[in-house]
Amino acid sequence: MCGIVGYIGHREAVPILIEGLKKLEYRGYDSAGIAVLKDGIRIEKQVGKLEFLEQELDGKIFTARVGIGHTRWATHGKPSKNNAHPHADCKGRFVVVHNGIIENYIPLKEWLQEQGHKFISETDTEVLPHLLEHFYQGDLVTAVQQVIAKVRGSYAMAALAAEEPDKIVVARNDSPLIVGLGENENYLASDIPALLKHTRQTLILEDGEIAVISARGVKVFGREGQEINKKVFEVKWKAEQAEKHGYEHFMLKEIFEQPKVLRDTLRGRISDDNAAVVLDEISLTPEEIKNTNKIFITACGTAYHAGLVGKYVIEKLARLPVEVDIASEFRYREPIIEPGSLVIVVSQSGETADTLAALREAHRQGAKVIAITNVVDSSIAREADEVIYTWAGPEIAVASTKAYTTQLTAMYLLALHFAGIRGTQEPEEIKRIITDMRNISRGVESILASTEHIEAFAGHYASCEDAFFIGRGLDYTVAMEGSLKLKEISYIHAEAYAAGELKHGTLALIVENVPVVALATQPALLEKMISNIKEVHARGASIIALALEGMTEIEEVAERVIYVPKIHPILTSVLTVVPLQLLAYYMAVARGCDVDKPRNLAKAVTVE
Ligand code: F6R
Repeated sequence: MCGIVGYIGHREAVPILIEGLKKLEYRGYDSAGIAVLKDGIRIEKQVGKLEFLEQELDGKIFTARVGIGHTRWATHGKPSKNNAHPHADCKGRFVVVHNGIIENYIPLKEWLQEQGHKFISETDTEVLPHLLEHFYQGDLVTAVQQVIAKVRGSYAMAALAAEEPDKIVVARNDSPLIVGLGENENYLASDIPALLKHTRQTLILEDGEIAVISARGVKVFGREGQEINKKVFEVKWKAEQAEKHGYEHFMLKEIFEQPKVLRDTLRGRISDDNAAVVLDEISLTPEEIKNTNKIFITACGTAYHAGLVGKYVIEKLARLPVEVDIASEFRYREPIIEPGSLVIVVSQSGETADTLAALREAHRQGAKVIAITNVVDSSIAREADEVIYTWAGPEIAVASTKAYTTQLTAMYLLALHFAGIRGTQEPEEIKRIITDMRNISRGVESILASTEHIEAFAGHYASCEDAFFIGRGLDYTVAMEGSLKLKEISYIHAEAYAAGELKHGTLALIVENVPVVALATQPALLEKMISNIKEVHARGASIIALALEGMTEIEEVAERVIYVPKIHPILTSVLTVVPLQLLAYYMAVARGCDVDKPRNLAKAVTVE
C-alpha cells in the first residue's frame, strides 16, 4: 500500500513528483524516492517522511521532464534507503516503482542471482528492474510484457529505461493505477488525489493492462498485447473526498478495502492445490511446532478480540491449549510460561506499549514470541522472534476494521499451519477450510455489495442508549468486537455476552425495545442460540440476528436478519464482523459522531 506518481511532459518533473507524493502522504509511508531521466537515470531516496527527501533535494538541479516517484509503506524489508523505491538494475539502465507484492520474488531473485545480477535491497520489487535488464532488447514495452509474464502477485508498476527517455511504461494487476491526461504532458498515480491539481481527465487501468505514457499521448494494451480504446473518466470528487476514494470517512473506505487486503494477506501463503498453508516467514521447525504444549496470546482492544478468535481456532484445529490475555493484564499477572510455551502478540501498529511490554515479559521468561502485526519494522516486529505480517496497508480511522479481519486471517493461517504439522486434522478437512478461505474475500464482497438494509437498521436503532451483542463460541468473540466498534464510534453503551450466560444476571438489563444483536452462524449451536434469543425476546428486546444464508428458522425469533454467505463454520468470524462494522458505522453517522476520530481515543497507544 504505497503511493506511486509519474510525470512526462514539458515542465520540470521533480516539483510535480514531490507535490504528487505529498498528496499521497495520508497513505502513510516510511521512506520516499524519485527517479528522473535526463542523460541517464538519476535516483534520489530518503528514509522517513517526505520532508526529509525534500531536504535532500534542496538546492540540487535536475531539469528533467520525465520521472517517477514513490512513497513506501514497507512490506518486504524494513524502511531503509536501500529498500526505498525506485529500484534499479545492475547498471542503472532501468528503474521501477511498484505497489503490491510479487509473490514469487524469491525464486526469481535466486534465478537472477545465478546469472550474476547483484541485489542491494530486501524488497520483492527489486526483481522487476533486474528482469527488465534480463529481457530488454531495445523495446521497453516488450520487456515489461515479458516481465509481467514471469511474475505472480499484485502490482502497479511504472518503469523507465535510460535508452527510451520519451516514455514511461506502466502495468497493473490487483493494485490501482491511474493515468492523468494533460496537454502535451501526462501523469500517472496510484491514487486520484495525486493528479487533481493537474487534471481531472483520467484513464483507470484494469488488471492485465499495460500503458505507454509519453508527453504526446497514452496507449493502452490488453493482456494479449492488443491496443485498447479506453474511455476517459472525469473525476468529479473534491480533493478531500478523493483521499477517501469518494467515501465519506476513512472507516468506510477501510471497511470496503477488506476484500482486497484479505486477498493480500493470503497471497503466497497457500499452496496452489489448497492442501497446505505456506508460512515461509515462520522459522519454527516441525519439531518445535510438535513440541509446543501451550500457546499464550496477548494484545489490546480489537487485536485482543482477534486473539480470542485465535484461541478458538488454534484449540479446535491444532488441539493446543491457548490462554488469551489483555496485554496490560498479562504483563503484571506473572503468567506461568513453561518450556514448550509459545507466545503470540497481536498489534496493528506494532507500537502499543502494553503489548510490547507483554512481549518483553514473555522473553524474560524465555518464551519464543510470534508477532502478528501490520507495520513492518515496528518495535513489536523488531523484538519478536518471528513475524507474520498482515498486509492491511495503512489504517487511518481510529476504529480498526481491515486490520482486524487480516489479523483473523493470520490466526487461521497459523492454526492451519500448526494443524498440518501436528497432524491434528484430516488432510481433507484442512483442504476444505483452505478452499473456503480463498473464497472469504468474495464473501465479504457480496456483503458489501448491498448495505442498504444495514444502514436502514442502523437508522432505526440510532437513538438507543444501550445495546447488547450475544453469541456462542466463535460468534461470542465476534460479538465482543461488534460491541467495541459500536461503543467507540457511536458512544452508545454496548456490551457483549456469551448467550448462555445471560440468565446468570444480565437478563435483568433487558427491557422493552433494547436492541440485541444476536450472532447465530454456528450450525451446531443454532438451537441453543434460538433459545437464548427467545429469552431476550420474551423480555421485549428488539432482535437483529446475524445468520448464514439458508438459516431461515432465525426469522421466527428475530425482527431483523442480516445474512452472510455460507462458509465453513470455523471461518465465519471474518464475514460476520463486516455487518457489525457497518452497523456501528451507520449508527455513529446517524448520531452525528466524528467517526474517524472518536473522542478520547488515539490510533496508536504508545503509553501505558
Ligand atoms: C479499536 C482499536 C483498538 C486497538 C488497540 C490495539 O477499534 O483500534 O482497540 O485495537 O488499541 O492497537 P494495536 O493493534 O495497534 O496494538
